[in-house]
Amino acid sequence: MIKLGVNVDHVATLREARGIAIPDPVFAAAQAEINGADLITVHRRLDQRHIHDRDVEILKQTLKTPLNLEMAVNQQLIEKAVDWKPEKVTLVPENRQEITTEGGLDLCGAVEKIKQVTAVLQKSGIEVAAFIDPDKQQIEAAAAIGVEGVELHTGDYAETAVGTEQRAAALRRLENAAEAADRLELEVYAGHGLNYHNVVEVAMIPRVIELNIGHAIIARAVSVGIGEATHQMKKLIVEADRLTCVE
Ligand code: PXP
Repeated sequence: MIKLGVNVDHVATLREARGIAIPDPVFAAAQAEINGADLITVHRRLDQRHIHDRDVEILKQTLKTPLNLEMAVNQQLIEKAVDWKPEKVTLVPENRQEITTEGGLDLCGAVEKIKQVTAVLQKSGIEVAAFIDPDKQQIEAAAAIGVEGVELHTGDYAETAVGTEQRAAALRRLENAAEAADRLELEVYAGHGLNYHNVVEVAMIPRVIELNIGHAIIARAVSVGIGEATHQMKKLIVEADRLTCVE
């Protein structure tokens, strides 16, 4: 069954707006978890702009579901990850000024370096994924590096207007990338910009086994609460999964 990873970074962003202890992303993660989240995702940025070390440490101690730690390829963070031992690390690009992660990680330009980092993480029992654009060369590089899976960047798809040829093409790119990754025995995840309106199409892409969703769930939670927002998203992807199985 397709898994839902709830990204709670945006709760931490709200906390940082006041520089005090609330709202707590750890509490939000627990609420998401008891309402159907299959894993919790956080991005520990280099400047701890939203998620802090303290959050990762408490999440690791308290979560019942796996922790997916997104992070840049950075020596200091790799040492921390080896210490924290999240179930999964997703390697992402990081640009200090960006509002959110822009584009996938370019694996082709740094195969040897990322191979070394991946080996260090895997040696301490952590699964490794790379967040990449749905591009054949990136997928081949991911297989050469030896990561367990790839998270396909759905931003292009999510940002194009509904009903346009560009949107259909972006969806096809994701479908083709999922197939290519699967052929190379990589697990396939997807995320970025997914919301209550566009998630079903992505959840129905064959071979996608996990979706990581943040902003849309936290935005909805402002109106209905984290639990209900998680539950509504989970219901959509479970239904998409059921429809795909029937076909
Ligand atoms: N996956 C990755 C690798 C990301 O960097 C992000 C954004 O932090 C997400 C998923 C979630 O994106 P969104 O907040 O748009 O749902």
